[in-house]
Amino acid sequence: MARVFSGVQPSGAPHLGNYLGAWSRWAREQSDGHFYCIVDLHAITIPHDPAVLRERTVDLACWLLACGLDPDAATLFVQSHVREHSECTWILNCVASMGELQRMVQFKEKSEGRDFISVGLFDYPVLQAADILLYHADEVPVGEDQRQHVELTRDIAQRFNSRFGDTFTLPRATFPKTGARIMDLQHVDRKMSKSAESPQGTIDLADSEEATRKKIMRAVTDSGSEVRAAPDKQGITNLLDMLSAATGKDVADLEAHFVGKGYGDFKREVAEAVNGVLRPVRDRYSELRDDPAAVEDLLRKGADRARAVAAATMDGVRARVGLLLR
Ligand code: TYM
Repeated sequence: MARVFSGVQPSGAPHLGNYLGAWSRWAREQSDGHFYCIVDLHAITIPHDPAVLRERTVDLACWLLACGLDPDAATLFVQSHVREHSECTWILNCVASMGELQRMVQFKEKSEGRDFISVGLFDYPVLQAADILLYHADEVPVGEDQRQHVELTRDIAQRFNSRFGDTFTLPRATFPKTGARIMDLQHVDRKMSKSAESPQGTIDLADSEEATRKKIMRAVTDSGSEVRAAPDKQGITNLLDMLSAATGKDVADLEAHFVGKGYGDFKREVAEAVNGVLRPVRDRYSELRDDPAAVEDLLRKGADRARAVAAATMDGVRARVGLLLR
């Protein structure tokens, strides 16, 4: 059985891209040997408010549980609860090169326009590599934007193994058939991301059904009338991708279904499907949010399970690198 690891940052409001690109699949495929991590150490690589971070960490755990992650089936935990992530990062820092980190697209995007760029932001992909490698993950289920980071993880693992002997499993990223890159509804050339940057283009999981419907009805399309996926119809292509991911139907079948119908009908069906998949998630979230202590308890148990695996990996890593064992 494949070992699986994936992570999400507790920064910004969770949105439909997170759900369709990653979390719905985590919940569907979860089993023993799957690790899902709230990566709080990644979230401090840009300026943040400590109280907000603490709040968002618990809040994100509620969303993940609401999406269907079952702490008895898979391991859900907070990254900073397992110290080995930081320790492994340092060792991998000595195996990763400046050149390969400088090529990371996410670093270029996130550092653009900032007058203060932390070393942590630059080093972010190495921490991500440590996350994945500590658990000997074979597969990393993510959205398309994480492809480059997982490829880098593989390169770092390969280099470590060739220098110090076979230690790490080489992971590969896996992507959903549709929904791997949900675009912003107003700026269809940008991926959907934090709502603070584009409130009308982002569907927050916490949005009401009415707000969700309005945002979809107002999504940017084109002046044509055909519901068809095409490079010059990015808005329609994105909505088709969303509908396909939400319903599990093929894009070609959806195109056939909408022949002769206008954009209005199409958008109404997209809104209904999106609200349909999010309804149970939103309901469950409200229940979980009422009992944060119970959620924190689950996270502590998750950390104990994760730590057992990470600590065993680190014992091997220290020995391989030549650190004197105590
Ligand atoms: P993050 O927190 O930005 O996103 C969490 C997951 O959601 C996916 N995603 C999307 N999928 C489709 N369309 C979108 N518009 C969209 N936006 C986000 C992401 O691809 C991701 O799967 N660096 C990671 C967190 C991380 C990690 C890891 C992931 C840290 N360590 C180890 C995997 C393995 C990140 O910032 O994801």
